[in-house]
Amino acid sequence: MDITIRQEKEADYQAVEEVIKRAFSDVEISDKTEHHLVKRLRGSEAFIPELSLVAVHEATGELVGQILFTKAKVGDTETLALAPITVLPEFQNRGIGGNLVNKGLELAKELGYASAFVLGHPGYYQKFGFKKASLWGIKAPWVVPDEAFMALELHGKSLDGVSGTVQYADAF
Ligand SMILES: CC(C)(COP(=O)(O)OP(=O)(O)OC[C@H]1O[C@@H](n2cnc3c(N)ncnc32)[C@H](O)[C@@H]1OP(=O)(O)O)[C@@H](O)C(=O)NCCC(=O)NCCS
Repeated sequence: MDITIRQEKEADYQAVEEVIKRAFSDVEISDKTEHHLVKRLRGSEAFIPELSLVAVHEATGELVGQILFTKAKVGDTETLALAPITVLPEFQNRGIGGNLVNKGLELAKELGYASAFVLGHPGYYQKFGFKKASLWGIKAPWVVPDEAFMALELHGKSLDGVSGTVQYADAF
């Protein structure tokens, strides 16, 4: 199955929100409003169009996944927050999520971002090099399990000497 990963366009917005709704419909810890979050983020200063990506099934043109990185801060340092990432249930476990993360991180590096944070399942994000943020003394802006809040350095030891609480966009 061939999948293309490209930047989200305005014409994709509705399909992206549908993917997010469907992907979270069976997720217990979800509040089922993640598609509204994406709408708010698109309209905020934290939005980075180049880092809002979609996965498209080449044969049918169907939009099957999405990933979004938005601007965040830790202390005075600019960083990225990965959220949300979703793949349609019937397309999961085929590597599409992994491709979205890898492509997003590659583009983030090219754009000069030095680090990224994610709140999620440790087993999933460790594969991409994420480690628990508490190793740097960095905290999530919410009460979450220590191992679920993770950081990745995109350039050298970019988080050395950085500490504090990550400030996500107000839209969160
Ligand atoms: C998380 C998600 C995007 C992964 O997409 P995907 O295309 O299935 O991912 P991949 O095929 O690249 O990777 C699948 C692997 O991740 C694992 N995985 C998937 N969801 C997981 C989860 N919530 N926790 C731990 N591992 C998970 C699978 O077991 C599989 O492991 P394996 O490679 O060792 O077999 C997708 O499952 C999804 O949309 N989930 C619902 C929405 C969600 O929870 N998003 C994350 C929070 S924003």
